[in-house]
Formats: sequence, C-alpha cells, structure tokens
Amino acid sequence: MQGNNNMFTSIVVVGASGDLAKKKVIPALFSLFHDRHIAKENSTVVGYARSKMTDDDLRGRIAENLVCRLKQEDQRSCGDIQTEFLNNLHYVSGSYDSAEDIAALDSKLKELESGHEKVRRLFYLAIPPSVFTDVAHLVHLHARAKQTVLVVEKPFGHDLASFEELNRTLQEDWKESEIYRIDHYLGKEVIQNLIVLRFANILFNNTWNRDFIKKVEISFNETIDVKGRGGYFDSYGIVRDVIQNHLIQILGLVAMERPLSMESGDIVAEKNKVLRSTTIDPSSVVVAQYEGYTADPTVEPDSKTPTFSRMTARINNERWAGVPFTLTAGKALDRTQTSITIHYRSIPGEPLFNTPCGNTCNRLSIIIQPDERIELRTMNKVPGMGFDARCSDLNMLYRDTYKGVHIPEAYERLILDVIEGDQRFFVQSGEARLSWVLFEQTLKEIDDGRFEVKTYPFGAKEGEI
Ligand SMILES: NC(=O)c1ccc[n+]([C@@H]2O[C@H](COP(=O)([O-])OP(=O)(O)OC[C@H]3O[C@@H](n4cnc5c(N)ncnc54)[C@H](OP(=O)(O)O)[C@@H]3O)[C@@H](O)[C@H]2O)c1
Repeated sequence: MQGNNNMFTSIVVVGASGDLAKKKVIPALFSLFHDRHIAKENSTVVGYARSKMTDDDLRGRIAENLVCRLKQEDQRSCGDIQTEFLNNLHYVSGSYDSAEDIAALDSKLKELESGHEKVRRLFYLAIPPSVFTDVAHLVHLHARAKQTVLVVEKPFGHDLASFEELNRTLQEDWKESEIYRIDHYLGKEVIQNLIVLRFANILFNNTWNRDFIKKVEISFNETIDVKGRGGYFDSYGIVRDVIQNHLIQILGLVAMERPLSMESGDIVAEKNKVLRSTTIDPSSVVVAQYEGYTADPTVEPDSKTPTFSRMTARINNERWAGVPFTLTAGKALDRTQTSITIHYRSIPGEPLFNTPCGNTCNRLSIIIQPDERIELRTMNKVPGMGFDARCSDLNMLYRDTYKGVHIPEAYERLILDVIEGDQRFFVQSGEARLSWVLFEQTLKEIDDGRFEVKTYPFGAKEGEI
C-alpha cells in the first residue's frame, strides 16, 4: 500500500466488537485522525463483526477510549474531533464465513467510497486465528479494491505445521507485500531506537560483541494473570504467547549485523541470519505455573500450561558465540516490566581502587515498558576524601528527556506504516517460519511434559523461580 494524497482509504476493523478493536485499534485510528494523518475527506473506518449493533452502538462503545492530545495553540476542541471521527465510523454486522455477508460489506464500502476515483482498502483482522483464513479468503473473492492489504494479528499459528498451513492458505490469495503481520513490540519507541543506539554510537557499535559482552537478558514480567483470556492462553502458554514472537523479535534486533539500509528487506535479511544461527539450549529451559492458575474457570483443571518460562538462546556466529541470551517471560509476577540488559565483561586484572564489585560494573539496561528509559551503569569515584569507587547509573528517562514529545502507541505507529506501505517493522513470512523452527523442539518437549512444571506464588520475583 503506497502513501498517496489523492487516495481514499477504507479501513475495515474485522472483529470490531472485540477487546483489541476497542482498546487498541480504533483508539489508534482516532489518534491518527486527531493528528491529521487521516481525515474524513480521504478515509472512512468501518467495523465488522457478527454482533448485532448499529453505527451508534459501536460509536458508544468506543467513545470513552478516544483520547485527545491537543496542543495549546490548537483551535479545535476535543469534543469536535471526537464527533467528527465517530461520524466517520460505521458498522456492518455479518459472519466470517458467509460470502453474502462479505459482499454486503463490499457494497457498504462502495457506498462510502463513491465519488472517489482512487480507493484502497485495509482490512485489520482483530479476530481469533480460527476464523481469519475464512475472512481473508472471502475478502479476496468479494471485497478487494485495486489496492488492498490485510493486517494479521499474532499468533501466527500454534506450531511450525499450523503456521505453514495458515501461511500457505493466506498466500494462495494474497501476495507477501499485501500481508502485514503485526507484532506490536516492533512498534514500540525503545525497540525502534535499538537500531539507532547500536549503529549510531561508536561506544556501543564497537563493543557490541563477545569480546566485551558477557551475557544478554531479555525479559518480560507482568503482574497480571490470565483472567478473562484463560481459554486462549491455556492452549498457547507463555512461550508461544511471548517468547517465540515478541522476545525473539527483540533478540533479532539486538543481535543482527548492521543492515545495508533501513529498507524493510535489508533489516529482515539481517534478522533472518540471526534466527538461522540461533539454538535453544534444552538444559536451560525452566517452566512454571503460578499457584491458582487452574482455579480460573476458563482454564483446564489439570492444565500444565506454563505461565512462566526461562531459557537460554545461543547464537552460533562470530559475533556472539559463547554469549548466553537469557529469555524470560512470566505472568502474575511482582512487577510489570519488559527490558533488555546487556552485561559487559570486567576489566582484567586487580582493581586499582577499593570497590565492592571488583572490576565488573558496566551494564546497559533498556527498559521498554512501562516507563521507557535507558540506563548505563558505570564505575565512579565516590565524592569526598579517600578513593573508593562505586557503580552508579547514567539515566535517560524518555519522559524527562523528550518533554512535551508525544510517544506514539505501538498500534498507532504501525497502522500508519501500513497506510504508508512501510513493512519494515512487520514480521515477514520467512522470519515467522524461522522462529517456529527455532522453538519446534522445545515446544514439543514442553507439550509432552518432558520438563517439570514448577509452581510459584502469585507475585513472585522473576529471579526466585
Ligand atoms: N486483546 C489483545 O490485547 C491482543 C493482543 C495481541 C493479539 N491479540 C490478537 O488479536 C485478535 C483479536 O483479539 P481480541 O482480544 O479482540 O479477541 P476477542 O475479543 O476474543 O475477539 C474479537 C471478536 O471476534 C469475534 N469472536 C470471538 N471468538 C470467536 C470465535 N470463536 N469464532 C468467531 N468469532 C469470534 C467476536 O466478535 P463477534 O462475536 O461480534 O463476531 C469478538 O468480539 C486475536 O487473534 C488475539 O489473539 C489480541
């Protein structure tokens, strides 16, 4: 999908009655509308789902989630922008496997698009994976415009075989350039900054390898449990839900070589090389479940699905051989934080100064959420008499450094990328396949019960499991 000013864009949110549409997708479209990336003159938003609703019902459901970010000099009122956006939001009810219903959606779209010569369509599939191949096929047959793209949510399959089946079915009707597989982590500000931090700072660029780095930790901690999503989660588990996609995408960006350019193909090519060189060390795998998980009515009573897992990835190439990449993800832990920690080696020899930690101190922490920040731990002399040295942090908190700068929500940025035809921060089919290949054996062993599933108390610390 190419950005073009004369183009009218119809954005269809399939699954508009659902949680993702209400909390993320439609609010992100509102933010794009608010910031004039889309306007009523050149776009329309249509929700589609089975639930019987009117346009006004959908507008009423969504309204409370539309947040304005007006600047002081702005002449508009928040209420006016919301009303304008909501008036441009429509709803069509229909099922996901009925050609007539999708054809009816097509008629509604044609009505909204009438008078516009150049039209393109974006179908955001915010629906469970069990129905999205049906929708994709019927849209291909009955609701395509000249330019049409699909946005597909993870999970992209349940294992390698189901991914390949899903992908084969999609690719019968859709070209790779028309499929945007969204992993919202790739739209996060700090994740996108990894490329700049690594390749535009000689300090990091020249030391980003096994000679200087001892280990890398990528971890995702959440205080929330699976309440309400137990049905979905129980058949996936934390490895499929978080490690196999979000954390592996982060690992790819942390470990890849410098891409030839910022073009999508060049970045993906480098991430793919990393995935091909990576293995999971089976002896490192820890799986655990929080106490009380099976009491959730949406979960199987004897479920062994892990809600926590830790494992070590090894990247067998010249840059990373011997450096463990620890991947950890867990729910119902003591805090919510996603971070990357790069631990540097120590300076050889005896320390010159009196320090509590020898010569080991340098550490780069990149906090992705909740509060975006970058911290660099260095050794410094303790001020005053004597010559003691201690570790202290240079701290860049995005909120303070970029005061007044709006950090877009991941969904907002990624949907704009789709509108502009930019696939850089989307998951290509080869990459998705390689990440399933990487986890094939580990997931099989977890599913077959080869690892003991430990239990941990609700609110446990990651390091204690
Ligand atoms: N929620 C999140 O934060 C999140 C994050 C990452 C990825 N995702 C993915 O995004 C997609 C949508 O997520 P969601 O949380 O919005 O899902 P959801 O609320 O469970 O489902 C969205 C809509 O799909 C329809 N639906 C639900 N179950 C169905 C079924 N078994 N068969 C047919 N239609 C069904 C329902 O609409 P009607 O009954 O009105 O048709 C529902 O409102 C999923 O693939 C999910 O894995 C969600």
